[in-house]
Amino acid sequence: MIRFDDVSVTYRGGVRALRNVDLRIDDGEFVVVVGLSGAGKSTLLRALNGLVPATSGSITIDGTEVVGAQSAELRAIRSRIGMIFQTFNLVNRTSVLNNVLMGRLASVPAWRSTIGLWPATDTEIAMQALERVGIVEKAYVRAADLSGGQQQRVGIARALAQEPSVMLADEPVAALDPVTSRQVMGDLRRINRELGITTLVNLHFLDLAREFGRRLVGLRDGEVVFDGDIADVTDETFRHIYGRAITDDDLLAVDGEPTE
Ligand SMILES: Nc1ncnc2c1ncn2[C@@H]1O[C@H](COP(=O)(O)OP(=O)(O)OP(=O)(O)O)[C@@H](O)[C@H]1O
Ligand SMILES: [Mg+2]
Repeated sequence: MIRFDDVSVTYRGGVRALRNVDLRIDDGEFVVVVGLSGAGKSTLLRALNGLVPATSGSITIDGTEVVGAQSAELRAIRSRIGMIFQTFNLVNRTSVLNNVLMGRLASVPAWRSTIGLWPATDTEIAMQALERVGIVEKAYVRAADLSGGQQQRVGIARALAQEPSVMLADEPVAALDPVTSRQVMGDLRRINRELGITTLVNLHFLDLAREFGRRLVGLRDGEVVFDGDIADVTDETFRHIYGRAITDDDLLAVDGEPTE
């Protein structure tokens, strides 16, 4: 279980990116976070894995305190959190399999990974992760030679190879076209259902949030201004979260594309 208790983050320079955030996220939940640019979505995810120190309050994952954790504790916390990035963050010149094996780094002695001598079990875990996102046949292809959607699937597989209890995805589809965006969101949802990994996804597009979310958290100016079931979300909810009318730019769908 993830708990934010009265969490605030003030960056150097004085920007208050999170204000008194309270959240309880149960094991296995799929949470979509929305809010205008600058609302604090990335800060929320970064505070959870300790990349950004919370200025006050408490953040716990299964009872382990993240705020003020020392580097060894932080490494242990992060080893259980899979991160998925907008720009994939792959090593382009190496194979898909090697990229996914990087998710195993925390569990393997450094000398073995340095000389590329991965234990067979790690390779097995990495191949299974690729299978789960449907691109196992690309294992020996250079990451650079994949499409954007395939690269993001490698990013998801790398996170899965960590055998995480939590997945954090910061705008995972922002660099993808609408069709691929839906496929990648579908992958994340399916993995959440199949493996029960607690998943937090920051999203820009409100129709995508509605389509794939279950629980929606709305941030406005660092504050949680909505937290509830996606089924209860109306256009008025989005207007409240954004503090303005919703425009076409806030939606992924163009000319009434069918949704899955
Ligand atoms: N490293 C930093 N130093 C100072 N201020 C920062 C830093 N990172 C973010 N901010 C500020 O904190 C606020 C929240 O930023 P954050 O990146 O969390 O927003 P976001 O909701 O992820 O926005 P976007 O949709 O553009 O990604 C913004 O005002 C931003 O300018
Ligand atoms: Mg962001």
